[in-house]
Amino acid sequence: MALRNILKEGESTLKKRSRPVADFNERLWELLDDMAETLYEADGLGLAAPQVGVLRRVVLVLQPGADGEDTLIELVNPEIVEASGEQDGIEGCLSVPGVWGLVRRPMRVKLRAQDRHGKHFEIEGEGITARAFCHELAHLEGQLFTEVAHKILSEDEIEELMQERNEGAGEEKPE
Ligand code: NI
Repeated sequence: MALRNILKEGESTLKKRSRPVADFNERLWELLDDMAETLYEADGLGLAAPQVGVLRRVVLVLQPGADGEDTLIELVNPEIVEASGEQDGIEGCLSVPGVWGLVRRPMRVKLRAQDRHGKHFEIEGEGITARAFCHELAHLEGQLFTEVAHKILSEDEIEELMQERNEGAGEEKPE
């Protein structure tokens, strides 16, 4: 495993559409493993392959568990098959460090995807996980959250909101 460099806003790769994965081989597994290491190192909530310069439809999302243990979800060729409800909340991105904005996303999302061996599965996410699914899938279309945020927060607003959050559900992590 190796750490990969996370591209930052302004890099043209982040604006491009990613291509589907056709070969479920060692190259893909190495990418997934490297992305996981990179995500943990960066202390993020999710990471999409284009963020490490690979224009393939591959994303990782960390699903927070009630016991504090996160589950790493690997998604290859993911597609949203159902979305319902709405939430409005803070979003950040490892490719846009230090910037936080308010983004409206569905409250619940069902995805169809493949695992690292090509096996199809469906997975549902709610709340922060639904948000992360939507954020990461948007990366595959070349879209950053700053393009869909209805408000970019000032430093004072970030501090205020983070303090509120920290009293409740733990710290905010960029995606
Ligand atoms: Ni992101």
